[in-house]
This record gives sequence, C-alpha cells and structure tokens, in this order.
Amino acid sequence: MKATIDHIGIAVGDLEASLKMFRDALGLELAAPEDVPSQRVRAHFLAAGPASVELVEPTSDDSPIAAFLAKRGPGLHHVAFRVDDIVAALAELKTRGVRLIDETPRRGAHDSLVAFIHPASAHGVLVELKQVGDGEVGDAGCGSGIGNEIVPAWRI
Ligand code: CO
Repeated sequence: MKATIDHIGIAVGDLEASLKMFRDALGLELAAPEDVPSQRVRAHFLAAGPASVELVEPTSDDSPIAAFLAKRGPGLHHVAFRVDDIVAALAELKTRGVRLIDETPRRGAHDSLVAFIHPASAHGVLVELKQVGDGEVGDAGCGSGIGNEIVPAWRI
C-alpha cells in the first residue's frame, strides 16, 4: 500500500472565522459546501495543492462534531489518506492488527469509497481512507475531496 494525503479534516464551530483564516489569509479556494444529513454536518473543502482542507461544522446540537467541539473545542478532527484499492488496504490493515471503525468501505461522493481507522491504532489520530471514484478528478483544485463522506460517530 502507498497512501497519499487527500485532505485534513478540521472541526469548526464558527465557520466565518475559520474562512477568514483558511480562505482569506491562506488564500485557499473554497468549493461549494456539502451537507451530510446522516451525520448532521456540513463539509467545506478548500483546495491546498495536491491535498485539501475540510472544514466540518455541525448542523445540529446532536451532531458528533458538536460533541467533539463541546469536549475539545475546534481543531484537527481527522487526516484522510487516498489509496488505490481501499478493500485491499483494509484487508492488509486488518492482518496487521489495526483497529478499524469501518471494516467495509462506505460510499462517498462521486463514487468514492471511504473508511475510518480507529485513533487507538493510529497514535491518537482519526484516519480516513479514501479511494477516488471514477467520477472524481484526482487532483485537488478540480474538486478532489469534495465529498459526501460520512464523519463517524466516534468521539474522543
Ligand atoms: Co474527511
């Protein structure tokens, strides 16, 4: 397996304040937001070279991200790695004894597939694996990482 960074997920409570930093100060290009109703979050992707920044805000008080913010405040939520074959990657990680949140991938936007690795097996970091789908352009700046991904209910 050879993983590459796809995006970095940041939990935000004040979207406008976070955009002043990541869009205005750092000059990252903001894509259209995407709601994930099942997780009660809205994801805002900003292209940052070959990878992206994902600002994740809760859309409801009972969102997992709302719980994360209440406990930890805004900050790093997950790191997403792109892999060529997510099923093979999950199988390999399982044989290595890595604790998986998703043993089988979930469907993301543009036919991408995503799965999460438990932070207990990744030195405290929630890790997302992503296999880019046929309908998704592979490099950031062309919509990569703009996902209907599911932010897991896992809480620190
Ligand atoms: Co993500």
